[in-house]
Amino acid sequence: MSEKHVTLHDPDLPEPVELPVVEGSIGPEAVDVVSLYRRTGKFAYDPGFLSTASCTSRITFIDGDEGILLYRGYPIEQLAEQSSFLEVAYLLLYGELPSREVLEAFEEMILHHTMINENLKRFYSGFYHNAHPMAVMMGVVGSLSAFYHDATDVNDPRHREISAHRLIAKTPTIAASSYKHSIGEPFIYPRNDLGYCGNLLHMMFAVPCEAYEVDPLAEKALDILFMLHADHEQNASTATVRQVGSSGANPFACVAAGIASLWGPAHGGANEKVLDMLEEMGDVSAIPRYLARAKDRDDPFRLMGFGHRVYKNYDPRARIIRRVCHQVLEKLGDPHDPLFELAMRLEEVALSDDYFVERKLYPNVDFYSGIIYRALGIPVKMFTVMFAVARTVGWVAHWMEMLSDPHHRIGRPRQVYTGARRRDYVPLERREG
Ligand code: CMC
Repeated sequence: MSEKHVTLHDPDLPEPVELPVVEGSIGPEAVDVVSLYRRTGKFAYDPGFLSTASCTSRITFIDGDEGILLYRGYPIEQLAEQSSFLEVAYLLLYGELPSREVLEAFEEMILHHTMINENLKRFYSGFYHNAHPMAVMMGVVGSLSAFYHDATDVNDPRHREISAHRLIAKTPTIAASSYKHSIGEPFIYPRNDLGYCGNLLHMMFAVPCEAYEVDPLAEKALDILFMLHADHEQNASTATVRQVGSSGANPFACVAAGIASLWGPAHGGANEKVLDMLEEMGDVSAIPRYLARAKDRDDPFRLMGFGHRVYKNYDPRARIIRRVCHQVLEKLGDPHDPLFELAMRLEEVALSDDYFVERKLYPNVDFYSGIIYRALGIPVKMFTVMFAVARTVGWVAHWMEMLSDPHHRIGRPRQVYTGARRRDYVPLERREG
């Protein structure tokens, strides 16, 4: 903690109150208001956490004004160019880039824990065939808490690590099985000789009666998308995982809660909504109408894939994804994919529109990712599931970081009560109306 303070002048108090300032290694400082209530009798009020740092963290840094994203200090552009998803997973979990030997051991360990308990598969048959795969994902990941009882002491660092590894290893299998269930095809067992993303593609698209070969470009594109989605500091779903985990809850239950939060259209569910929106628009002639709706305060419609709580500049992930889109469509899809052309035109028009310029609304990670998923043959309903598989790494990294802090406390916000004051119960026969 620094020596810095901010002074609060409260007319209700006899003297000013000095509040300490918490300094990070980079980024804005924070006023430590932990003692605020004790010293002033007042709470801090910040619905939606616009100005509240809920924790300190060493994992990911975002500078939203400059459009910078660092994982453990490494720029996302360098990682996307030179690293791999499992190496990024190691980095996020353990804080440093692994040596070759350590990376190989980590990969081997994750890639050899991909199977799920056979009994877990029976859960799928309880779901209606056209259930949304995110609903299935949430249910099945949550039900892992009923299977692995050997390592759920959240106070034991080794137990935490085992649960984290299990989650990273098994979510692709669970995700692919939700897809197979939705199309009525048999589940495909993982192949431990394949890479993480190659295996996911295999489990989604192979059938037992034919050989399936993973396309290296598809695997590489998915690996890049997964690196970009792996973590994003205190986003809604990660904050949810931390919040649920703060009570000492089971790790699989915490991640199921993260999946629930991610599903919302303001968060990860946006990637699915972007595609729906582009398909509904049809062609560039619809752009003015949709922009007018997005700007109309009386219309709840928002331009999906645009805007971000933290980025007030181009989301660096969207920039990388846009480039990968070109490469993927060039090789695997239609290089003149009308939806991609529509998306690029929409971006161009929005970025020159005063409404979007004034509010600093730029394309976010979800704007172009769906176009790549679509080119890889991944159905729209699976887009947010893909995000969930990748973000599992961030969720467990934050969960482990929080629990390894011996001073962590249960997350228990306060409120400003605006309801009825104390009043006496009125028996039914004496109530009017
Ligand atoms: N279209 C039209 N107007 C928008 C949009 C949008 N996509 N996003 C924000 N605005 C306007 C908003 O109406 C407000 O205008 P005003 O100042 O006149 O009231 C202003 O911009 C600030 O927006 P906000 O709602 O206060 O911002 P927020 O930080 O609470 O919300 C957001 C951030 C991402 C939820 C929001 O931008 C949004 O709903 N975007 C569309 C959904 C989306 O793409 N979500 C993915 C987010 S990134 C990846 C992820 O988290 O998974």
